[in-house]
This record gives sequence, structure tokens and C-alpha cells, in this order.
Amino acid sequence: MTWLITGGAGYIGAHVAHAMSGAGERVVALDDLSAGIPARLPAHVPLVEGSALDSALLEGVFAEHAVTGVVHLAAHKQVAGSVTDPTLYYRENVGGLATLLEAVAGAGIGRFVFSSSAAVYGAPDVDLITEDTPCAPVNPYGETKLAGEWLVRAAGRAHGIATACLRYFNVAGAAVPGLADRGVFNVVPMVFDRLSRGEAPRIFGADYPTPDGTCVRDYIHVADLAEAHLAAARRLAAPGAAGDLTVNIGRGEGVSVRELVTLIGEVAGGALPAVVEGRRPGDAPRAVASAALAERELGWTARRGVREMVESAWAGWRSGN
Ligand SMILES: NC(=O)c1ccc[n+]([C@@H]2O[C@H](COP(=O)([O-])OP(=O)(O)OC[C@H]3O[C@@H](n4cnc5c(N)ncnc54)[C@H](O)[C@@H]3O)[C@@H](O)[C@H]2O)c1
Repeated sequence: MTWLITGGAGYIGAHVAHAMSGAGERVVALDDLSAGIPARLPAHVPLVEGSALDSALLEGVFAEHAVTGVVHLAAHKQVAGSVTDPTLYYRENVGGLATLLEAVAGAGIGRFVFSSSAAVYGAPDVDLITEDTPCAPVNPYGETKLAGEWLVRAAGRAHGIATACLRYFNVAGAAVPGLADRGVFNVVPMVFDRLSRGEAPRIFGADYPTPDGTCVRDYIHVADLAEAHLAAARRLAAPGAAGDLTVNIGRGEGVSVRELVTLIGEVAGGALPAVVEGRRPGDAPRAVASAALAERELGWTARRGVREMVESAWAGWRSGN
């Protein structure tokens, strides 16, 4: 098999490219470099520079590299950006996905792995979120991921494509410093950014109904997440694989924002005490995955803990700043 990884030069996509090619899979990356960094990719992985919305380019790449499966990560991913520019998010994340799936079906490609997100659930009031927890996204980004899942499953049924939708929880860390997240949209790099300016980290809301009053999240090391993609790709490539699979990718363990910020201070050193600000709209008090289905269906469980995520992210931050 040859797997096309869209968004392959991105933070998660490059980890997936390393994990899959390191395990002996043939991969080719496609990225428009709007946020991607080519140097993240292993030297032997070809990078096609262009858009996953470009049908002619896709047809050419599928033929030239004899692509037999697609791992689709290319997307716009900022919640705030999706609120201010929802049409861009729907066009790229849903319209672009339709274009890609048409090309996939047209080329007779039979395997498709889709980057979904815990954002599809919104803010459910449950201890552990299972794949049966009702989906009620609270922002356009989460809506585009949910609509994307519907589209992937419908196209899979219509065209005989085996599909897997992976709902990532809170991704952090780096396999090696050069692969670290360069954006400051997730909590770990946001705190590093504050610390490196000599500013106190911020906590948004400390009056939630949680043990220490701050939001509780399920953090997953990006290297574990990359291995989950490998497991999903192999499961879809197995003889007779058919149908669709939708799974949470998390650790099943809640960590509060205050616990995380304290740990980041320990790892980075010299941290000022966190300041508490008001709640942000749409933040669920608790979002922790049940990781049971991924273990059962993919034979995959996360191996790396939160300290490893923070330490590896800090090494990456220092190497890039
Ligand atoms: N980072 C997280 O915490 C998180 C959590 C849940 C889901 N996700 C999903 O994981 C995927 C990857 O996220 P990431 O954190 O690696 O983001 P990223 O921005 O680092 O990677 C996305 C990559 O896609 C590329 N890209 C964007 N639009 C493209 C297009 N039209 N054609 C080709 N390439 C395009 C960008 O250049 C970038 O390299 C996204 O689908 C995102 O929604 C991320």
C-alpha cells in the first residue's frame, strides 16, 4: 500500500509520516505549506506542495505514487477563527473534504482515515465520553469535524471505502524537538509563550464543578496519536476490512488545567503563580475520553504520560524559540 498523508508537513501530520514510514509503510505527503514545515518530514518521504482541494493535482498524485489509502489531516483548526470566519472553515474542512473524497472514489482508493476531534461532542455532562455520547458541537470548527465524519461515512458506504474517523482529545508533546507544535493555540505552548515573556500563565475560570475548580481535559502525546493512525491504517488495510470505525483517541485520564500549569512551571522552571481570569464561552468543565473502543478495535493504547508530553514540548519550544 501507499498512503497519502494530507497536511503531512503539519504538527500531527509529520508525526504520522514518521510513525508510518518508520514502521515500513510507504507514504507520500501533500501539504499547501500554509502552516506546514517541509523539514519536519523524513528525508525519504516525498512532499507534494499543493492543496488537498485541487482535484487535478490529486488525480496526478494518486496515479504517480500509486496511492491506495489516504490519511486526511489537512484542515483549519482554530476554534476562534471558525467563529469569526465560518464560511472559510466550512469551505476548507467540509467542501475540501468532498473534493478529496470524490477524487478518492474516482481513483478507486479503498481506505480513508479522517482527523476528527473531541470538539464534535461539545460540552457533554458525563464522566467519560464514549463514542455513543451524543455529538453537539459548540463552535463551527467542531461542526465541520462532525459534518466531515458524516460525509466520510456516507462516501465510504456509497463507494465501498473502508473508513476510520479518529476523534483526538487534547494533543501535546513532540516525538523529537524538531517536530514540535509551533502554534500558540493549545494550552501547553500558550503557557510556554507567557513564561518566555516573563508573564504569569492564565487560567480561564476556577469556579467549575471540578475538584480544583479548573477545567479537566484528557491529554494525549502526539507520538501516541501517530501510532493510533498507524494502527487504524493497518486495520483498514487488513484483508476483508470494510465498513466504518469511529473512535476516541485519548488516555481516559483527566488532568485539570491547574495541575497542568503547575507541571509546566516545574518543567520550565521560574514560573510565576497562575492568574485566574473569567471563563471562556464554550469551555466544558470536563472532557475525558473513554479509550476502551480504540483498545478493542485498534489494539492501541497510549503509552506516554503528561510529564513526558510537557518535557518533550518544552524541549521543542526551546529548540524553536
Ligand atoms: N492539534 C490538535 O490539538 C488537534 C486536535 C484535534 C484534531 N486536530 C486535527 O488534526 C489535524 C492536524 O492538525 P495539526 O495540529 O497538525 O495542525 P497543523 O496546522 O500543524 O497541520 C495542518 C497542515 O495542513 C496543511 N493544510 C491546511 N490546509 C491545506 C490544504 N487545503 N491542502 C493541503 N494542506 C493543507 C497545513 O499547511 C498544515 O501543514 C487537523 O485536521 C486538526 O483539525 C488537531
